[in-house]
Amino acid sequence: MIEFTSALWTKIPEIDEQHKALIKRINELLVLGTKAANREDTEKMLAFLGKYLFKHFNDEEKMLIEADYPKFRCHRNQHQAFINTYEKLTEEYRINGASIQYSHLLNKSAVAWATQHIQSADVEFANYLRQKENLRQKEKTLENTLLDTCLWQE
Ligand SMILES: [Fe+2]
Ligand SMILES: [Fe+2]
Repeated sequence: MIEFTSALWTKIPEIDEQHKALIKRINELLVLGTKAANREDTEKMLAFLGKYLFKHFNDEEKMLIEADYPKFRCHRNQHQAFINTYEKLTEEYRINGASIQYSHLLNKSAVAWATQHIQSADVEFANYLRQKENLRQKEKTLENTLLDTCLWQE
């Protein structure tokens, strides 16, 4: 099970909400994987997870492009790797059901996504966005100060 601890907070509300919803789904899948679950339930859940994961990665990538994020390609490659793993996972389930390989892959990739991706890559870009916004605010303040002190009169 993945816990949505403060280590996973990006402090970007939209992103945190999406992470929380994804973690909830993944945890439900992890529970289903340990039971002789109804195949239809698991397949529905996997399909939902895939759609939501795709939307989430897309939303993040739009933000990164807008911010001209220097590590955009590296970040997008990580997303792509998770999409590939997700495809492997659904394929494994389709062929063998809740096999040991399926449970192992689900566990391993869920933990990797939370710890290696959210906790480091997502948190890192969130910090970058905040720093960039702070700089923008400072520039604006400086600009306004300079304008206010322009006392020249013709
Ligand atoms: Fe994310
Ligand atoms: Fe990400």
